[in-house]
Order: sequence, then C-alpha cells, then structure tokens
Amino acid sequence: FFVLQANLHKLIDHYMNPRNVGSLNRKDTSVGTGLVGAPACGDVIRLDIQVDEATGTIVDTRFKTFGCGSAIASSSYLTTLIKGKPLDEAAKIKNTDIAAELCLPPVKLHCSLLAEDAIKAAIANYQSKRVGAAATNLAQT
Ligand code: FES
Ligand code: FES
Repeated sequence: FFVLQANLHKLIDHYMNPRNVGSLNRKDTSVGTGLVGAPACGDVIRLDIQVDEATGTIVDTRFKTFGCGSAIASSSYLTTLIKGKPLDEAAKIKNTDIAAELCLPPVKLHCSLLAEDAIKAAIANYQSKRVGAAATNLAQT
C-alpha cells in the first residue's frame, strides 16, 4: 500500500495542483493551439504554445483539459516538459514517457496519448499559422 502511494504521488500532485492552466492569445501568430479528443471517452485537451520565432523554442504554454484526472495530470506534466524546449524535441515526447513518470495504469494509457496528440497538434497549428503569415506578407509586398 505504501509503495503504491509513493508511485501515485506525482500523479496526484499534478492532478491536485496542475501547472500552467489557462490559455494564451491565439490571435498571436507565435501561438499554436492543439485541440484533441479521445474517441474512447470523449475527454478533450486544449493546449496553447508560444514559440520564440528566432530560436524555435517554446517559451510559454497553457492548457485546459475537460476530462479525467489522468488526462489533467498528463497535460500538466506535459507543459512542464515542453516549456523551454525546441519544437523538434517537444515533437518527440512520447505518451509512454508521460505514463511512466505518472505511473499510469494500462487503462489510463490513452489519457497520456491524448497529451502526446495535443503537443503534436499545437506544433502543427503553429507551423500552419506561420506559413499563413508568410503568405500574407508576400501578398502584401
Ligand atoms: Fe471521461 Fe475520463 S472517461 S473523464
Ligand atoms: Fe479518457 Fe482519461 S479516461 S482521457
């Protein structure tokens, strides 16, 4: 029982005191947003990342999760992992890294997968916004 409690500590901590909850200014072209849902349960994560365009580094991030405790904890832990990371490194984060850190049981693995999907979607959205902004600039010159 005490071993189990020790393993659950990080999960409960991120669930009870989630880090980086909220949202960023999505009108800003340096902000990318990932909105992903789990078909199995209907839970949803929305993740915003702010990227320093010069260095390609994630300088800020916020999330809102409408879902279970494991999805909230996975999102919270994800934000602590990606803050300060270059986009290419953040894109490599695997749900298994999150599940291992939080000791998620097998039935909760898809909650960490949702977090992996969220960062991938946020990066894709940021990149498409940058392409859009570049095209607008080109059209105006
Ligand atoms: Fe939806 Fe987790 S099944 S809250
Ligand atoms: Fe579905 Fe956790 S139960 S995301």
